[in-house]
Amino acid sequence: GRVAVLLGGTSSEREVSLDSGRNVIEALRARGVNAIAVDGIPALTLALVEKRFDRVFNILHGHNGGGEDGIVQGLMEAFGVPYTGSDVLGSALGMDKIRTKQVWLSLGLPTPQYRKVTAETVHAHAAELGLPVVVKPANEGSSVGISRVTDDAGLDDAVALAARYDGQLLMEQMVVGDELTVGILGDQALPSIRIVPKGQWYDYNAKYLADDTQYLCPGLDGDDELEIRRIALEAFRAAGCRGWGRVDVMRDRATGRFYLLEVNTAPGMTSHSLVPKAAGQAGIGFEELVWRVLEQTVE
Ligand code: DAL
Ligand code: MG
Repeated sequence: GRVAVLLGGTSSEREVSLDSGRNVIEALRARGVNAIAVDGIPALTLALVEKRFDRVFNILHGHNGGGEDGIVQGLMEAFGVPYTGSDVLGSALGMDKIRTKQVWLSLGLPTPQYRKVTAETVHAHAAELGLPVVVKPANEGSSVGISRVTDDAGLDDAVALAARYDGQLLMEQMVVGDELTVGILGDQALPSIRIVPKGQWYDYNAKYLADDTQYLCPGLDGDDELEIRRIALEAFRAAGCRGWGRVDVMRDRATGRFYLLEVNTAPGMTSHSLVPKAAGQAGIGFEELVWRVLEQTVE
């Protein structure tokens, strides 16, 4: 059948999605699939009305015109067209970092302590959590709008930056240690990746532009590696996610404990992206990965 590859859109992650989508289309075509690029939700709506394809490969990142927040999933459900990845609930929950944490905490899954903050409350909440902290828009991706704050003077700028992207802001205790991520493919957690950015942080630049970020895969040894995969898969399921995705995790250097940060329901598929690297380590090449994600499409 024909597959619409939903990409681009109007979110802050448009460029990343175009890059991911190009790679997905190439891989599908290499497997003989009739894959068509569809840029954004209005174009998808038209294509759905005209019944131009049989299923959707959703690689539209982010929200506000992205495809990762449940809105486009609802549209596809309404038209009865199968699509890759999480459904309405898993997508909407996964996009909201605050509610994701609330679900994890309610199930006893570990995530950094946090406060919902505003420009008015940020100093008081920072005093409660203790510096350093991380200030984030509650609904964003690719580290857009995120600041690490080590002194009180930096809090106002951090809130102002995050507020440019979202009305809901989140401040977390900063976990000092290793940054890890676990790709999920179907029922399987892929080998973890430990990210060692050349600069201090794995920010947008380190994610997509720099070539000096180091990726270690598997990221951990022995029981630690098994444990992070177990926690990530449990966290993914707890958030109602399905098909494929990626769970970001910090590991405290002092205690060795894991802290879940967030889930990504349409993870990047760029040449710099992490799920393809983890799949590669598990012996699943890029084409095969794309094929398996498509196979996870729910009818
Ligand atoms: N939000 C980006 C695309 C990722 O998680 O890979
Ligand atoms: Mg993310």
